[in-house]
Amino acid sequence: IVDVKGGPDEGLDRLGQKLVVKGWVRTSRVQSTVTFLEVNDGSCLSNMQCVINPDAEGYDQVESGLITTGASVWVEGVVVVSQGSKQKVELNVAKFIMVGRSDSSFPIQKKRVTREFLRTKAHLRPRTNTFGAVSRVRNALAYATHKFFQENGFVWVSSPIITASDCEGAGEQFCVTTLIPSSGESMDSPIGSVPKTAGGLIDWSQDFFGKPAFLTVSGQLNAETYASALSDVYTFGPTFRAENSNTSRHLAEFWMIEPELAFADLSDDMACATAYLQYLVKYVLENCKEDMDFFNTWIEKGIIDRLSNVAEKDFVQLTYTDAIELLLRAKKKFEFPVKWGCDLQSEHERYITEVAYAGSPVIIRDYPKEIKAFYMRQNEDGKTVAAMDLVVPRVGELIGGSQREERLDYLDARLDELKLNKESYWWYRDLRRFGSVPHAGFGLGFERLVQFATGIDNIRDVIPFPRTPGSAEF
Ligand code: 4AD
Ligand code: MG
Repeated sequence: IVDVKGGPDEGLDRLGQKLVVKGWVRTSRVQSTVTFLEVNDGSCLSNMQCVINPDAEGYDQVESGLITTGASVWVEGVVVVSQGSKQKVELNVAKFIMVGRSDSSFPIQKKRVTREFLRTKAHLRPRTNTFGAVSRVRNALAYATHKFFQENGFVWVSSPIITASDCEGAGEQFCVTTLIPSSGESMDSPIGSVPKTAGGLIDWSQDFFGKPAFLTVSGQLNAETYASALSDVYTFGPTFRAENSNTSRHLAEFWMIEPELAFADLSDDMACATAYLQYLVKYVLENCKEDMDFFNTWIEKGIIDRLSNVAEKDFVQLTYTDAIELLLRAKKKFEFPVKWGCDLQSEHERYITEVAYAGSPVIIRDYPKEIKAFYMRQNEDGKTVAAMDLVVPRVGELIGGSQREERLDYLDARLDELKLNKESYWWYRDLRRFGSVPHAGFGLGFERLVQFATGIDNIRDVIPFPRTPGSAEF
């Protein structure tokens, strides 16, 4: 007896085989002489149609009417050619075991439910076609990420989640607190003069770490230290931002992939970002065919063509200055007016990639230094930095990256200009004192990638348990 895994076509190779299917009932049709169950085990989109006749072992449980949507079952039988038109094979059941009943309040019945509703059922939504498919594609994209970087000689580095530095300088960090009861045995902890919070708790986190600590917004600064020793490295982990933006592209907790390339400039960085994104797209088109067909039919018509184009064609490149000119010439009225020096809003980015360049990914480079982070390398003009953002249709900014300032005098001048405390960057500045090299890197938002690859329009629906303002249940 074999465990069944894989799509519907593989079923034909298994004709005559004895299989066991363990999964959850999607639908059941009980007729007087025969019962049909659609069972799904999450390995693929297709259900296994199980046909149960009265002579099957365990038929009494079938008759009792307890096989309802949501129940978990164990079914053994032989694979035969299906009589129905929906599937090529079906399971002629010899033995049926009810593993776990599901009562009639199971919230995901056959009628179509909205994705908003399913967000309130985040513990059960992976049992739907859409979330099953998203989960498998998300998994494939993570696997392809490691495969791409490993095949190209990058070393994976774990950057810390708790940190004292604010990489992006945007003040969007979550603070880490360490609470102990204000009375009780742990009073002998080094509490010093730290503030007391409500509920009789004392926050001694500053004593714990020696300084205020935060959840990381980016692993980049740490990745730079490893790139300055191991050459090409990448991080892949969770990052946190306390930005209060309730949009379809922002999460408070998201995953980011941050490659850092040593002996590299902005062109190398853009070439890496392009090769990586094209690799990912090809990977899912080749390895997630059934799920991609599903998205193409039900979520975004034409997504397969859109992604195939991304995999084949070079990306458009333009400077920030050219992008501003293009936007100033646009007939569209933007909510946020455009002028040189302004930060590009998502409406601008989407106009550039969706309208001006008809759906091609676009790399915008050389941004004004005032709107970018302190670590970016200053260009010769003294006004712009060697930054690049990759924007894509539907999602907007997917990647943000730059060449880093490797010259200590320029870096110090910038830290001074921004009134950042040089002492607290002592280790980052050390990299510029001991064998500094030109280097560059970028960050790709993993959930935005999943949106891009599946066509799902809200970022809350591409991560298992979304964290957004006002929502941290499950
Ligand atoms: O552009 P960002 O802020 O760049 C950095 O953090 C750099 N340190 C990266 C680097 O050079 N190593 O963020 C990078 C990407 C964005 O392009 C976006 O895709 C994603 O991270 N991102 C978010 N995704 C979901 N929710 C949020 N709140 C996000 N903020 C950024
Ligand atoms: Mg950015």
